[in-house]
Amino acid sequence: MEIVICADIDGVGRAAADTFERIIKQKPTAVLGLATGSSPLPLYDELERRSRHGQLTFREVRAFSLDEYIGLPAGHPETYTEVVNREFTRRVDIDPANVLGPNGNAPDLEIEAADFERAITDAGGIDVQVLGVGSNGHIGFNEPGSSLGSRTRVKTLLPKTRRDNARFFDDPNDVPHHVITQGIGTIMEAGNIVLMATGEQKAEAIARLVEGPISAMCPGSILQLHPKTTVILDEAAASQLALADYYRYTYENKPAWQRL
Ligand code: F6R
Repeated sequence: MEIVICADIDGVGRAAADTFERIIKQKPTAVLGLATGSSPLPLYDELERRSRHGQLTFREVRAFSLDEYIGLPAGHPETYTEVVNREFTRRVDIDPANVLGPNGNAPDLEIEAADFERAITDAGGIDVQVLGVGSNGHIGFNEPGSSLGSRTRVKTLLPKTRRDNARFFDDPNDVPHHVITQGIGTIMEAGNIVLMATGEQKAEAIARLVEGPISAMCPGSILQLHPKTTVILDEAAASQLALADYYRYTYENKPAWQRL
């Protein structure tokens, strides 16, 4: 696990975009894993900038979303299909037909979950997955207690997660109770993982995820077992890390051959 501590949110976006750019340039047909929420927004801003300046093209890229609410009407601005469209797909030169998320209104969600897993496998697996982390340590919508080997399936949100996400809705009661999410086992199969976190409200979850014991009580802690995970933080999100100075030193003294 590599920890990168940036001076500000824009730096977090640039560092995450550097990893995406490196992977897409190495493999123009790369498969991306997309997250929603606030954390990846600086990455999407930076990817749009690089796409507009012709520095990076997504013409052959495919992408899969991490998760989706169950029961929001199709076209609702807070469905993750709409969020991914708004924040990523419409802003770069990707073919919208190449972006797929689980359907939270599918008549049979078990079949939907299995089909979604198959679509990822058929695409050759995810080359780089961006993640945020919940204040309780969730990744995707795998809440504490989730099986660390889980696959895409339906989960029930904790009241705290519904409260955290209420800021996106006019009425907090509109936040759905259920979601369909890639499982932790699914996420762990991505070739590279970039986890982004900013702000002090994430500091405790980040300390548990990076330096705590691996436990289903902090689902993101499983990333300690992933060979190519980069955790990109601003100073506030890094503020409870015991080894923060060491991570800074390591990054500043990185030999040229050892890239992100
Ligand atoms: C989003 C997702 C969630 C969020 C997490 C953090 O697709 O799966 O795990 O990444 O809840 O949300 P923000 O970034 O809004 O703090």
